[in-house]
Amino acid sequence: MKINLKGRNFLKLLDYTPEEIRYLLDLSKDFKLKKQNNIEHKYLTGKNIVLLFEKTSTRTRCAFEVAGYDLGINVTYLDPNSSQMGKKESIEDTAKVLGRMYDGIEYRGFEQYIVEMLAKNAHVPVWNGLTNEFHPTQMLADLMTIEENFGYLKGINLVFCGDGRNNVANSLMVASAKMGINFTLASPKELWPQQDLIDICKDIASINNSKINFEEDIMVATKNADVIYTDVWVSMGEADEVWASRIKLLSKYQVNKDVMNNANPQAIFLHCLPSFHDLNTTIGKDINEKFGLKEMEVTDEVFRSNQSKVFDEAENRMHTIKAVVYATLSDNDE
Ligand code: CP
Ligand code: NVA
Repeated sequence: MKINLKGRNFLKLLDYTPEEIRYLLDLSKDFKLKKQNNIEHKYLTGKNIVLLFEKTSTRTRCAFEVAGYDLGINVTYLDPNSSQMGKKESIEDTAKVLGRMYDGIEYRGFEQYIVEMLAKNAHVPVWNGLTNEFHPTQMLADLMTIEENFGYLKGINLVFCGDGRNNVANSLMVASAKMGINFTLASPKELWPQQDLIDICKDIASINNSKINFEEDIMVATKNADVIYTDVWVSMGEADEVWASRIKLLSKYQVNKDVMNNANPQAIFLHCLPSFHDLNTTIGKDINEKFGLKEMEVTDEVFRSNQSKVFDEAENRMHTIKAVVYATLSDNDE
């Protein structure tokens, strides 16, 4: 089937068909090989893109920048304090201005409606680099990493342990449903995703022969798991006061050696990063002083184990983001 994504936004995986996601994963693989073999791929020389960040970032920003430079694109970065958007200029006006100057816009920030509003008004492709609700570029890197380890996606059992309402958990549920992965959330009921998103994902999963499950007992959830995934217990933009209740709710969902040993022997560990697995961060130290925890969503032992593929996953952010930028901006797409 001929896939052409030129001019498309990349706002959430729900907007993409499994065939289109497949196409982006194959393109990412090609770009990774080119990079590894030092084959130049400046296919988009002369294009300009802008990266609009209202929240901080290491991986997503660097992935867009390096992907852009590798493709020959000029890249502008606007940090959380340096654009007028929100404070002095509406989202609509910002989109109209940036759309006149740039060939594509990346946005990281708060509610999903902001990125949707940018896309509606910019008339150039808009890419979601994380909102409160979704993190779609992360999903492509996660799918790529799973495929690199197992050789396939359909039928993989993926378990997410933690805050089931956050952007990464929501997106993993969608990505799994689309690609025929069995998704299980290990989380207390209070942190299960919104029912309307669950219903949508269950419908999609049934077409693709996969299951969406919810389980409060982490040992029941992780039995037969191929991929165990976790994320921070408190996401960017949430109030500091949330930590106490989140620690109470999620401590028993920590990914530790017992959890990994309960999964399939070849199981891998994934995390979008950044992660609190030691005391080498200011927030980690602060939580240690207040609550006595040395590690949070994952133990240092699991994080550093051979089962952990988190740095391959982080590298794959760049190859997959390059695929999205290329596919949506290039004339040569087929
Ligand atoms: N995983 C991820 O999005 O990382 P950053 O917040 O560093 O971009
Ligand atoms: N859920 C996390 C993901 C960070 C990449 C957050 O939103 O902070």
